[in-house]
Amino acid sequence: MNKKLRKAVIAGNWKMNKTPEEAKELVRAIVPAAKDADCDVVVCVPYVDLFPVLEAAKGSKLGIGAQNCHWAPSGAFTGEVSAPMLSSMGVQYVIIGHSERRTYFGETDKTVNQRIRAALDNGLSVILCVGESLEQREQGVTAELVAMQTKIALGGVSGEELKRIIIAYEPIWAIGTGKTATAEQANEVCASIRSTVSSLYGSAAADALTIQYGGSMNAKNADELLSQPDVDGGLIGGASLKPDAFAQIIKAANR
Ligand code: 13P
Repeated sequence: MNKKLRKAVIAGNWKMNKTPEEAKELVRAIVPAAKDADCDVVVCVPYVDLFPVLEAAKGSKLGIGAQNCHWAPSGAFTGEVSAPMLSSMGVQYVIIGHSERRTYFGETDKTVNQRIRAALDNGLSVILCVGESLEQREQGVTAELVAMQTKIALGGVSGEELKRIIIAYEPIWAIGTGKTATAEQANEVCASIRSTVSSLYGSAAADALTIQYGGSMNAKNADELLSQPDVDGGLIGGASLKPDAFAQIIKAANR
């Protein structure tokens, strides 16, 4: 398997952090690291920060993403934001199916699939998150669970559309806990996702798919995680709010 077939993507998930003013400042600090990167660099920011961040990143190589989108183009869905709204602003990426959405906001595999449909129909690239809880890992169902999440999420997605999908493997027990999956654990599940995608779309499409690891990735452990053969990048929470740490992770992806 040749890692060179695919692009490394380092994405920051700011979660519910940063006011618009703070967001502008943080993005200005990240732009120089993106400029020197071999990999693609993306930040996924709160909705209210999208406009200021797009402005602050204008003309740079930094990709800008949202953290969710609704499946309908418009309508009576108080508090939601649609894919056409995002794409019309110039947003390029959207995270779909983050475990925090699944756990706290009732997101299901079915709604994840619907949201992916809307994102793709509106020209967005998707960062699809999958991953198991600690209980599920201990029960030994990680590979099956992640395969199921992947298959349902990708239902109806064409081979051509798959080129706009990144899959992020995020073990729930490693998110925000400081407890990282070992490089072997991360690689094993990323490889199993690639084989699921291969069964659906063929090996060439699977070889070209960017699969990220997410869960307490930081400046110290990024090198080892990103050097794994099936780990093509990272989805980073906490460390993406620290420009120096984020720049270090970008450097680790360049090696
Ligand atoms: P942390 O890097 O803070 O563990 O968060 C990972 C994550 O959930 C990214 O989407």
